Amino acid sequence: MRAVAFPRTGPPEVLESVDLPDPEPGPGQVRVRVRAAGVQPVDTALRRGAPIGPPAPLPRVPGNDFAGTVDRLGAGVASPAVGDAVLGWAWTSCYAEYVVVGADHCAARPAGMPWEEAGVLASSAQTAHTALEDLRVGPGETLLVHAAAGGVGTFAVQLARVLGARVLGTCGPGNEEHVASLGAVPVRHGEGLAGRVRALAPEGVDAALDMVGGDTLRLSVALVGDPARVGTLVDHAAAERAGALGLRSRPGADRLGAIVDLYAAGELRVHVSHALPLHEAARAHRLSETRRTRGKIALLV
Ligand SMILES: NC(=O)c1ccc[n+]([C@@H]2O[C@H](COP(=O)([O-])OP(=O)(O)OC[C@H]3O[C@@H](n4cnc5c(N)ncnc54)[C@H](OP(=O)(O)O)[C@@H]3O)[C@@H](O)[C@H]2O)c1
Repeated sequence: MRAVAFPRTGPPEVLESVDLPDPEPGPGQVRVRVRAAGVQPVDTALRRGAPIGPPAPLPRVPGNDFAGTVDRLGAGVASPAVGDAVLGWAWTSCYAEYVVVGADHCAARPAGMPWEEAGVLASSAQTAHTALEDLRVGPGETLLVHAAAGGVGTFAVQLARVLGARVLGTCGPGNEEHVASLGAVPVRHGEGLAGRVRALAPEGVDAALDMVGGDTLRLSVALVGDPARVGTLVDHAAAERAGALGLRSRPGADRLGAIVDLYAAGELRVHVSHALPLHEAARAHRLSETRRTRGKIALLV
């Protein structure tokens, strides 16, 4: 099969098109003919050589989410069936024509959902969903979401609105309209952020989701007051020092099912800023590494 992999760690240019053996599904697994895969910061971090997750041999195929059509079943799989359109997640391996995952790592693609949207849903939305669960966000609360325009933030804002929270979302000037369209009150990040948040929420902020780290995490703890209602996806050391939550995604079939149901009900939208052919994966990584992209980047396979 055709795939994009990095034979050594390094800059985006190390990504190259490769031919790999077609993977075969084992018991309980399905093989999916991938139509679209999502790009996220963990892909670029692994490519640079960051020690995330268990060590893996090179060349390594990045990509943690996908959408496509089931084309082969391992022993004991009752559902999904061959021919079903699905979306799901894996730990790397999705920048490829075929991906093999546990049958419970897939959900049915909602009718009419474009492949490029389906391919980028499973990872970032489950991260956002986990974070809101761990922060115990509830109706009537005010939640501060940092990096609200990004892949995780775009989902976090919408999911928090579904939970009935008021959301303040930090972003740059170019993303204020986007963040407002998601249902949040946009707040410019940078110098003076704490004052702007206090002006918009004089009654206080109940919880905060950090995706910037460092000073932004400290500022969030100061604004919320209770560090147990502040969580970070990026700065676990600072979280420990501050008594805040170091958040990690906990993907699962029930979580993905709930997210797909919200999409099908029209309560969750997917924003794809760039949909690029697989062979332009290096360009996708360069875009991601600007940390200025809005919503998600998709690779079309
Ligand atoms: N621990 C986990 O399980 C886990 C899981 C998923 C993701 N993560 C991490 O979470 C972070 C966010 O992921 P992502 O996929 O959402 O990234 P992303 O899509 O690359 O985020 C890009 C966004 O970040 C915003 N941004 C950049 N600097 C900012 C700042 N100082 N203040 C506010 N917003 C800022 C940009 O908005 P503007 O251009 O408007 O500034 C841009 O829209 C990444 O570091 C990722 O590695 C962790």
